[in-house]
Amino acid sequence: MADQADFIAPPPAIVHVARVTEVRHYTDALFAFTCERPASLRFRSGEFMMIGLMNGPKPLLRAYSIASPAWDEALSFYSIKVPNGPLTSRLQHIQPGDEVLLGKKPTGTLVLDALTPGKRLFLVSTGTGVAPFASLIREPETYERYEEVILTHTCRTAAELVYGEEIVAAAKACDLVGEAAGAKLRHVTSLTRESHPLEGRITNLIENGALFAHLGAPAFDPASDRVMICGSSAVLHDMKAIAEARGFVEGANSEPASFVIERAFAG
Ligand code: A2P
Repeated sequence: MADQADFIAPPPAIVHVARVTEVRHYTDALFAFTCERPASLRFRSGEFMMIGLMNGPKPLLRAYSIASPAWDEALSFYSIKVPNGPLTSRLQHIQPGDEVLLGKKPTGTLVLDALTPGKRLFLVSTGTGVAPFASLIREPETYERYEEVILTHTCRTAAELVYGEEIVAAAKACDLVGEAAGAKLRHVTSLTRESHPLEGRITNLIENGALFAHLGAPAFDPASDRVMICGSSAVLHDMKAIAEARGFVEGANSEPASFVIERAFAG
């Protein structure tokens, strides 16, 4: 029998070590990467999981939305480079062939099951908050459940929109969802610090009707619309107030309703 001292427990939060296959830098502060997906890792499109690196003898993990759909063989993530961030200051230097740590259990509320049936699905994102929607716009069930899918992405500058433009193009070119995305997916971008066809915070564009005028579509209606929101804490706070003022009710896995929110994690 092993002596007690011989028994070294594995780090509790870790189940997988995965090899990085691709890294792409978008701006000085934004990058995306893809790693191999362990065969046993299951998740629903839109969920997040813990990922990270070893930090000396200990794992350093942060929550990241999974940016690839549940059917994909690879796992993709989109990240900000937090100045002096304990994880991202190292993670931003990963290269193909390096190893990353993947946490135990994907989870989250930005999932189709947390919403009751509706006709239009609004995916409202700012900054890296577009990541879970990169997963959902390549999920066939999204298009089975909704007649229209409207992805909004608001950033400070045009360079920060590029990732979102690429994932929308990828969805439309995808063998599995390309036809449905071509027919049902609309992508609306706005900028707050550079000139752009649609300028301003998404909260203001909803309040003043500019978003709906731009779409040529009716304003939010809780009877037919469902809304998912992902961005900074401030964005979530303000968007939640707007949704609730219009009669939307926050849903959860256990109690689906008409809108759901999730913080865009960074660290
Ligand atoms: P702004 O430039 O006016 O701050 P960040 O890069 O800081 O994460 O921001 C992403 C986008 O979210 C920016 O366009 C930013 O606009 C916008 N934003 C920041 N705070 C809010 C808020 N409370 N409500 C709506 N949009 C916001």
